[in-house]
This record gives sequence, C-alpha cells and structure tokens, in this order.
Amino acid sequence: MYTDVQWIQLFDKLAEDDFVVIDDFLSDEQFRLIMNFFKKAEKNNHLKKAGIGPSGEFQIKSSVRGDFIYWLDEKRDTELSIFFEIVDDLIANLKRICYLSLSGSKFHIAKYPKGSHYDRHLDQFNERSNRQITVLIYLNENWKKGDGGELVIYKDNEEILVEPIAKRLLLFKSDVIEHEVLKTNVTRYSLTGWLLRQPQSVGYLF
Ligand code: OGA
Ligand code: NI
Repeated sequence: MYTDVQWIQLFDKLAEDDFVVIDDFLSDEQFRLIMNFFKKAEKNNHLKKAGIGPSGEFQIKSSVRGDFIYWLDEKRDTELSIFFEIVDDLIANLKRICYLSLSGSKFHIAKYPKGSHYDRHLDQFNERSNRQITVLIYLNENWKKGDGGELVIYKDNEEILVEPIAKRLLLFKSDVIEHEVLKTNVTRYSLTGWLLRQPQSVGYLF
C-alpha cells in the first residue's frame, strides 16, 4: 500500500490539475484477480448495454456510448474483496488527508467492443448528482498505439490523451472534467467508479 508521502503527492496533483494518472497502481496479483472476475462475468453474460442519464430517464443510445457494464456489489462479489480493500483505502486517505466528506462508492466493470466509443460528457448528470471523484482502472494488457480507446480529458482548451493501459489508475473531479472515450479498435476493458458525496437517496432531499 501507499505511504503518506505518496498519497499526499497523488492528492496534491488531483487538487491542482483536477486529475491524476498513476501507472502500475495494481499489482500483478490484483490485476489477475480483477481480470479473472471480468472474464467470468463476460462468460456468464452479466455485462449489459450501458445507458445514459439518471436512473429515472434511463436511455440506451449506442451513438453516445457503446460499452457493456456490470455493476459491482461488495457483498455479492466477494472474489473482488482485494479490490474493495483498495477502494476503502483510497476513500479513507481522501477523507483523512483532503478532508473530503465521502460516503460510499459505486463501481462497474466496462467492456467496450471493437468500434465503440463514449461521446464527450461530464459524469455528473445534473446539480443533484453526488458523484465527486471518478475512478478509472484500465485493464488492457499489451495495449499499443493504434488500438484506440484513449480517454480524452478536456481541460483549459487542451486535450490530454490517457492511454488505457493495464494497471493504470486515473482519478478526476467528476464535476469539472469533461472527457470522451475515442473509438477503440480492439476490445477495451476497464473498471470504473465514483466516490460519492452522500448516499444516493439522500441526494434528492437537497
Ligand atoms: C464513464 C467514462 C471512461 C473510460 O464511464 O463515464 O467516461 O475511460 N469512462 O472508460
Ligand atoms: Ni465518464
């Protein structure tokens, strides 16, 4: 696990740039475990076409996003307990070092079939959204230039390309970073989640 100095460096960058990329965030063992889970979910047809909009206005539009997702559940998906420990550690450190008031998280695995993409968007649907930090872990072993599926971060009239290479972690502020997934030329795997400001049901009361 990370030392305090490493966490502080990482969070300083997140605070300053609104995003941060960390390579080799996952160990080989953690990566294997997540990939095994992913392959099993794929085999069991658990991955479903992703939609857009808040749950009440759920729509499927392949012209906007072409990925297939499976929402994770810490209690059910016990094979991923190592992954949930990493998330708990991340949340605990964000609370302790950055004084963020986070309560909970929501994660899914995502598969982008060859030829799919996700249009430019913001991860907060509207002002009621409680998504505070977006967490992306990329799972594409042997990714190479030309495979496509890079994430574009739009920031201050700049476009920053993040290649979806295995074991890489990307964190960004969900309310400010517009982003896009470029068309992928190979099957693209990732684990995506959001650290939440307060429980989802409570969001509607404020
Ligand atoms: C998302 C998203 C980016 C990626 O799921 O909202 O923007 O790189 N994903 O997979
Ligand atoms: Ni997004």
